[in-house]
Amino acid sequence: MANKVFVTRKIPDSGIALLKAAGFELVVSEKDGVLTKDELMGALKKEKYDGVLCLLTDHIDDEVFNAAGKQCKIFANYAVGFDNIDLKAARTRNIMVTNTPGVLTETVAEHTFALMLAIAHRVAEADRFTRAGKYKGWGPMLLLGSDVFGKTLGIIGLGRIGARVAHHAVRGFDMKVLYYDVQRNENFEREYGAAYRDRIETLLPDADFVSIHVPLLESTKHLMNDLRFGMMRNTAYLINTSRGPIVDEQALLRALRAGTIKGAALDVFENEPAIEPLLLELDSILLTPHIASGTIETREKMARLAANNLIEALAGRVPPNIVQAGSS
Ligand code: GLV
Ligand code: GLV
Repeated sequence: MANKVFVTRKIPDSGIALLKAAGFELVVSEKDGVLTKDELMGALKKEKYDGVLCLLTDHIDDEVFNAAGKQCKIFANYAVGFDNIDLKAARTRNIMVTNTPGVLTETVAEHTFALMLAIAHRVAEADRFTRAGKYKGWGPMLLLGSDVFGKTLGIIGLGRIGARVAHHAVRGFDMKVLYYDVQRNENFEREYGAAYRDRIETLLPDADFVSIHVPLLESTKHLMNDLRFGMMRNTAYLINTSRGPIVDEQALLRALRAGTIKGAALDVFENEPAIEPLLLELDSILLTPHIASGTIETREKMARLAANNLIEALAGRVPPNIVQAGSS
Protein backbone atom coordinates (compact mmCIF):
# COMPACT_ATOMS: atom_id res chain seq x y z
CA MET A 1 0.00 0.00 0.00
CA ALA A 2 1.21 3.48 -0.81
CA ASN A 3 2.62 5.52 2.02
CA LYS A 4 0.34 8.33 3.01
CA VAL A 5 1.72 11.71 4.06
CA PHE A 6 0.03 14.81 5.46
CA VAL A 7 1.57 18.20 4.61
CA THR A 8 0.40 20.89 7.04
CA ARG A 9 0.65 23.78 4.56
CA LYS A 10 1.56 24.34 0.93
CA ILE A 11 5.34 24.21 0.44
CA PRO A 12 7.42 24.70 -2.74
CA ASP A 13 6.57 22.27 -5.54
CA SER A 14 9.97 20.61 -5.67
CA GLY A 15 9.26 18.81 -2.39
CA ILE A 16 5.75 17.82 -3.40
CA ALA A 17 7.05 16.48 -6.72
CA LEU A 18 9.65 14.30 -4.96
CA LEU A 19 7.02 12.80 -2.67
CA LYS A 20 4.72 12.08 -5.59
CA ALA A 21 7.56 10.55 -7.60
CA ALA A 22 8.20 8.25 -4.64
CA GLY A 23 4.65 7.00 -5.03
CA PHE A 24 3.33 8.65 -1.88
CA GLU A 25 -0.27 9.56 -1.46
CA LEU A 26 -0.34 13.19 -0.34
CA VAL A 27 -2.84 15.30 1.48
CA VAL A 28 -1.82 18.97 1.58
CA SER A 29 -3.72 21.28 3.92
CA GLU A 30 -5.71 23.71 1.82
CA LYS A 31 -6.05 26.30 4.53
CA ASP A 32 -4.38 29.58 3.63
CA GLY A 33 -2.59 29.84 6.96
CA VAL A 34 -1.42 27.90 9.98
CA LEU A 35 -3.71 25.10 11.13
CA THR A 36 -4.85 25.53 14.72
CA LYS A 37 -3.95 22.64 16.96
CA ASP A 38 -7.55 21.39 16.81
CA GLU A 39 -7.60 21.62 13.02
CA LEU A 40 -4.29 19.79 12.81
CA MET A 41 -5.42 17.03 15.16
CA GLY A 42 -8.73 16.77 13.30
CA ALA A 43 -6.93 16.40 9.98
CA LEU A 44 -4.56 13.76 11.37
CA LYS A 45 -7.40 11.73 12.87
CA LYS A 46 -9.30 11.62 9.59
CA GLU A 47 -6.85 9.27 7.87
CA LYS A 48 -4.04 6.94 8.80
CA TYR A 49 -0.86 8.78 7.87
CA ASP A 50 2.59 7.20 7.78
CA GLY A 51 4.31 10.55 8.02
CA VAL A 52 3.74 14.28 8.42
CA LEU A 53 5.57 17.20 6.87
CA CYS A 54 5.19 20.04 9.36
CA LEU A 55 6.34 23.64 9.70
CA LEU A 56 7.93 25.67 12.48
CA THR A 57 4.54 27.32 13.01
CA ASP A 58 2.97 23.96 13.96
CA HIS A 59 3.24 23.16 17.66
CA ILE A 60 3.72 19.43 17.75
CA ASP A 61 3.18 17.92 21.18
CA ASP A 62 2.07 14.61 22.63
CA GLU A 63 -1.60 15.23 21.82
CA VAL A 64 -0.74 15.83 18.18
CA PHE A 65 1.37 12.65 18.07
CA ASN A 66 -1.54 10.81 19.66
CA ALA A 67 -3.91 12.17 17.00
CA ALA A 68 -1.51 10.99 14.29
CA GLY A 69 -1.77 7.46 15.64
CA LYS A 70 0.51 4.47 15.90
CA GLN A 71 1.22 3.96 12.21
CA CYS A 72 2.80 7.41 11.93
CA LYS A 73 6.58 7.01 11.90
CA ILE A 74 7.95 10.45 11.18
CA PHE A 75 7.37 14.19 11.53
CA ALA A 76 9.64 15.95 9.04
CA ASN A 77 10.03 19.61 10.04
CA TYR A 78 10.45 22.12 7.23
CA ALA A 79 12.97 24.22 9.21
CA VAL A 80 16.39 23.89 10.73
CA GLY A 81 15.00 24.81 14.17
CA PHE A 82 12.81 22.21 15.86
CA ASP A 83 11.82 23.90 19.12
CA ASN A 84 8.21 23.60 17.92
CA ILE A 85 8.34 19.83 18.43
CA ASP A 86 8.28 17.97 21.75
CA LEU A 87 11.20 15.58 21.19
CA LYS A 88 10.65 13.74 24.44
CA ALA A 89 7.09 12.88 23.46
CA ALA A 90 8.36 11.79 20.03
CA ARG A 91 10.86 9.46 21.65
CA THR A 92 8.26 7.98 23.94
CA ARG A 93 5.94 7.34 21.02
CA ASN A 94 8.75 6.07 18.81
CA ILE A 95 8.29 8.79 16.20
CA MET A 96 11.26 10.08 14.22
CA VAL A 97 11.81 13.82 13.87
CA THR A 98 13.94 15.42 11.13
CA ASN A 99 14.92 19.01 10.20
CA THR A 100 16.46 20.83 7.22
CA PRO A 101 19.99 21.91 8.21
CA GLY A 102 22.78 23.05 5.90
CA VAL A 103 20.73 24.18 2.90
CA LEU A 104 19.68 27.44 4.54
CA THR A 105 22.99 28.39 6.14
CA GLU A 106 24.10 30.76 3.37
CA THR A 107 20.72 32.40 3.05
CA VAL A 108 20.23 33.03 6.76
CA ALA A 109 23.81 34.36 7.01
CA GLU A 110 23.06 36.72 4.11
CA HIS A 111 19.86 37.92 5.73
CA THR A 112 21.74 38.47 8.98
CA PHE A 113 24.18 40.66 7.10
CA ALA A 114 21.37 42.43 5.27
CA LEU A 115 19.89 43.33 8.67
CA MET A 116 23.24 44.39 10.07
CA LEU A 117 24.02 46.69 7.13
CA ALA A 118 20.49 48.02 6.98
CA ILE A 119 20.21 48.95 10.66
CA ALA A 120 23.68 50.53 10.71
CA HIS A 121 23.03 52.52 7.53
CA ARG A 122 19.43 53.27 8.51
CA VAL A 123 18.22 51.87 5.18
CA ALA A 124 14.59 51.19 6.08
CA GLU A 125 14.26 54.44 8.00
CA ALA A 126 15.78 56.36 5.06
CA ASP A 127 13.40 54.62 2.67
CA ARG A 128 10.42 55.72 4.80
CA PHE A 129 11.86 59.24 4.94
CA THR A 130 12.34 59.43 1.18
CA ARG A 131 8.91 58.03 0.32
CA ALA A 132 7.32 60.49 2.73
CA GLY A 133 8.66 63.34 0.54
CA LYS A 134 10.99 64.56 3.28
CA TYR A 135 14.12 64.60 1.13
CA LYS A 136 14.86 68.26 0.43
CA GLY A 137 18.47 67.94 -0.72
CA TRP A 138 21.80 66.51 0.38
CA GLY A 139 22.76 67.35 3.92
CA PRO A 140 25.99 66.88 5.84
CA MET A 141 24.11 65.65 8.88
CA LEU A 142 21.25 63.85 7.14
CA LEU A 143 20.40 60.40 8.56
CA LEU A 144 23.92 59.62 9.69
CA GLY A 145 24.54 55.94 10.39
CA SER A 146 27.40 53.82 11.68
CA ASP A 147 30.09 51.95 9.77
CA VAL A 148 30.08 48.18 9.82
CA PHE A 149 33.56 47.89 8.31
CA GLY A 150 36.31 47.47 10.88
CA LYS A 151 33.94 47.08 13.82
CA THR A 152 33.73 44.19 16.27
CA LEU A 153 31.07 41.55 15.80
CA GLY A 154 30.11 39.41 18.77
CA ILE A 155 28.58 36.10 17.73
CA ILE A 156 26.53 34.17 20.25
CA GLY A 157 26.34 30.57 19.01
CA LEU A 158 28.95 29.35 16.56
CA GLY A 159 27.02 26.76 14.55
CA ARG A 160 26.94 26.68 10.78
CA ILE A 161 25.06 29.98 10.49
CA GLY A 162 27.09 31.85 13.11
CA ALA A 163 30.33 30.71 11.47
CA ARG A 164 29.14 31.84 8.05
CA VAL A 165 28.18 35.27 9.39
CA ALA A 166 31.68 35.49 10.86
CA HIS A 167 33.13 34.61 7.45
CA HIS A 168 31.33 37.51 5.78
CA ALA A 169 32.29 39.83 8.62
CA VAL A 170 36.01 39.06 8.47
CA ARG A 171 36.45 38.50 4.73
CA GLY A 172 33.99 41.08 3.47
CA PHE A 173 34.09 43.87 6.03
CA ASP A 174 37.42 43.54 7.86
CA MET A 175 35.54 43.10 11.10
CA LYS A 176 36.99 41.64 14.25
CA VAL A 177 35.04 38.64 15.52
CA LEU A 178 34.42 37.57 19.10
CA TYR A 179 32.33 34.52 19.75
CA TYR A 180 30.66 32.71 22.58
CA ASP A 181 29.58 29.10 22.31
CA VAL A 182 29.36 26.21 24.75
CA GLN A 183 32.08 24.66 22.62
CA ARG A 184 35.32 26.35 21.68
CA ASN A 185 36.51 25.97 18.05
CA GLU A 186 40.21 26.66 17.70
CA ASN A 187 40.30 25.94 13.97
CA PHE A 188 37.72 28.64 13.46
CA GLU A 189 39.74 31.02 15.64
CA ARG A 190 42.85 30.43 13.54
CA GLU A 191 41.05 30.78 10.23
CA TYR A 192 39.31 34.04 11.09
CA GLY A 193 41.52 35.52 13.79
CA ALA A 194 38.50 35.25 16.06
CA ALA A 195 38.60 35.45 19.85
CA TYR A 196 36.69 33.07 22.11
CA ARG A 197 34.80 34.37 25.12
CA ASP A 198 33.76 31.69 27.57
CA ARG A 199 30.93 33.85 28.93
CA ILE A 200 28.35 36.03 27.23
CA GLU A 201 29.09 38.64 29.91
CA THR A 202 32.62 39.10 28.62
CA LEU A 203 31.56 39.26 24.98
CA LEU A 204 28.82 41.90 25.24
CA PRO A 205 30.90 44.87 26.49
CA ASP A 206 33.39 44.52 23.63
CA ALA A 207 31.04 44.16 20.64
CA ASP A 208 29.68 46.82 18.28
CA PHE A 209 27.24 44.31 16.82
CA VAL A 210 25.86 41.27 18.65
CA SER A 211 24.32 38.56 16.48
CA ILE A 212 22.46 35.59 17.94
CA HIS A 213 22.68 32.12 16.40
CA VAL A 214 21.68 29.68 19.14
CA PRO A 215 18.71 27.31 19.14
CA LEU A 216 15.76 28.00 21.44
CA LEU A 217 16.16 25.86 24.58
CA GLU A 218 15.11 26.30 28.20
CA SER A 219 18.63 27.60 28.79
CA THR A 220 18.55 30.16 25.95
CA LYS A 221 15.10 31.63 26.62
CA HIS A 222 15.51 35.35 27.47
CA LEU A 223 19.25 34.99 27.05
CA MET A 224 19.11 38.70 26.22
CA ASN A 225 17.50 40.32 29.27
CA ASP A 226 17.76 43.66 31.10
CA LEU A 227 21.01 42.69 32.76
CA ARG A 228 22.67 41.68 29.50
CA PHE A 229 21.41 44.68 27.52
CA GLY A 230 23.00 46.72 30.26
CA MET A 231 26.36 45.14 29.46
CA MET A 232 26.25 46.17 25.79
CA ARG A 233 27.77 49.39 24.47
CA ASN A 234 25.32 52.24 24.02
CA THR A 235 26.58 52.44 20.43
CA ALA A 236 25.94 48.75 19.77
CA TYR A 237 23.30 46.93 17.75
CA LEU A 238 21.58 43.60 18.37
CA ILE A 239 20.72 41.32 15.44
CA ASN A 240 18.46 38.29 15.92
CA THR A 241 17.70 35.78 13.18
CA SER A 242 17.45 32.76 15.50
CA ARG A 243 14.29 32.45 17.60
CA GLY A 244 12.26 35.25 19.14
CA PRO A 245 11.96 34.09 22.76
CA ILE A 246 15.76 34.22 23.08
CA VAL A 247 15.33 37.99 23.42
CA ASP A 248 13.11 39.41 26.18
CA GLU A 249 11.12 41.82 24.00
CA GLN A 250 10.12 44.03 26.94
CA ALA A 251 13.75 44.30 28.01
CA LEU A 252 14.69 45.19 24.43
CA LEU A 253 12.02 47.89 24.37
CA ARG A 254 13.40 49.33 27.61
CA ALA A 255 16.97 49.22 26.29
CA LEU A 256 16.08 50.98 23.04
CA ARG A 257 13.97 53.64 24.75
CA ALA A 258 16.63 54.36 27.35
CA GLY A 259 19.44 54.42 24.80
CA THR A 260 21.15 51.52 26.56
CA ILE A 261 21.85 50.19 23.05
CA LYS A 262 21.71 52.02 19.72
CA GLY A 263 19.49 49.74 17.70
CA ALA A 264 18.21 46.28 16.91
CA ALA A 265 17.28 44.30 13.81
CA LEU A 266 14.98 41.35 14.30
CA ASP A 267 13.66 38.65 12.00
CA VAL A 268 12.01 36.73 14.84
CA PHE A 269 9.71 37.72 17.69
CA GLU A 270 8.81 36.48 21.11
CA ASN A 271 5.14 35.71 20.36
CA GLU A 272 4.95 35.39 16.59
CA PRO A 273 3.16 36.70 14.71
CA ALA A 274 2.43 39.26 17.44
CA ILE A 275 5.03 41.98 18.03
CA GLU A 276 5.17 44.36 20.97
CA PRO A 277 3.38 47.38 19.39
CA LEU A 278 5.58 49.94 21.14
CA LEU A 279 8.61 48.53 19.28
CA LEU A 280 6.96 49.49 16.00
CA GLU A 281 7.09 53.15 16.98
CA LEU A 282 10.88 53.23 17.18
CA ASP A 283 13.17 54.11 14.29
CA SER A 284 16.02 52.38 16.10
CA ILE A 285 14.60 48.98 15.25
CA LEU A 286 14.37 47.15 11.94
CA LEU A 287 11.90 44.30 11.51
CA THR A 288 11.49 41.50 8.98
CA PRO A 289 8.76 38.85 9.29
CA HIS A 290 10.74 35.62 9.88
CA ILE A 291 12.05 35.44 6.32
CA ALA A 292 15.77 34.88 6.91
CA SER A 293 15.71 31.58 5.00
CA GLY A 294 13.17 32.91 2.53
CA THR A 295 14.78 32.88 -0.89
CA ILE A 296 13.22 30.89 -3.71
CA GLU A 297 16.35 28.75 -4.04
CA THR A 298 16.59 27.89 -0.36
CA ARG A 299 12.91 27.21 0.20
CA GLU A 300 13.02 24.78 -2.76
CA LYS A 301 16.03 23.05 -1.21
CA MET A 302 14.33 22.86 2.18
CA ALA A 303 11.26 21.32 0.54
CA ARG A 304 13.40 18.68 -1.19
CA LEU A 305 15.30 17.92 2.00
CA ALA A 306 12.14 17.53 4.09
CA ALA A 307 10.64 15.30 1.37
CA ASN A 308 13.78 13.22 1.21
CA ASN A 309 13.74 12.70 4.96
CA LEU A 310 10.19 11.34 4.67
CA ILE A 311 11.10 9.12 1.73
CA GLU A 312 14.13 7.62 3.47
CA ALA A 313 12.33 7.10 6.77
CA LEU A 314 9.33 5.42 5.19
CA ALA A 315 11.61 3.18 3.14
CA GLY A 316 12.95 1.90 6.46
CA ARG A 317 16.26 3.71 6.21
CA VAL A 318 17.72 6.27 8.60
CA PRO A 319 16.79 9.70 7.22
CA PRO A 320 19.76 12.02 6.64
CA ASN A 321 18.65 14.82 8.97
CA ILE A 322 17.45 12.97 12.01
CA VAL A 323 17.19 14.94 15.27
CA GLN A 324 15.18 12.39 17.22
CA ALA A 325 15.42 8.71 16.38
CA GLY A 326 12.41 7.30 18.25
CA SER A 327 12.89 4.74 20.99
CA SER A 328 13.57 1.56 19.05
C1 GLV B 1 13.65 28.98 10.30
O1 GLV B 1 13.44 29.74 11.23
C2 GLV B 1 14.19 27.67 10.46
O2 GLV B 1 14.39 27.20 11.59
O3 GLV B 1 14.41 27.02 9.42
C1 GLV C 1 22.05 25.99 11.91
O1 GLV C 1 22.02 25.43 10.81
C2 GLV C 1 23.32 26.24 12.59
O2 GLV C 1 23.98 25.25 12.91
O3 GLV C 1 23.68 27.41 12.79
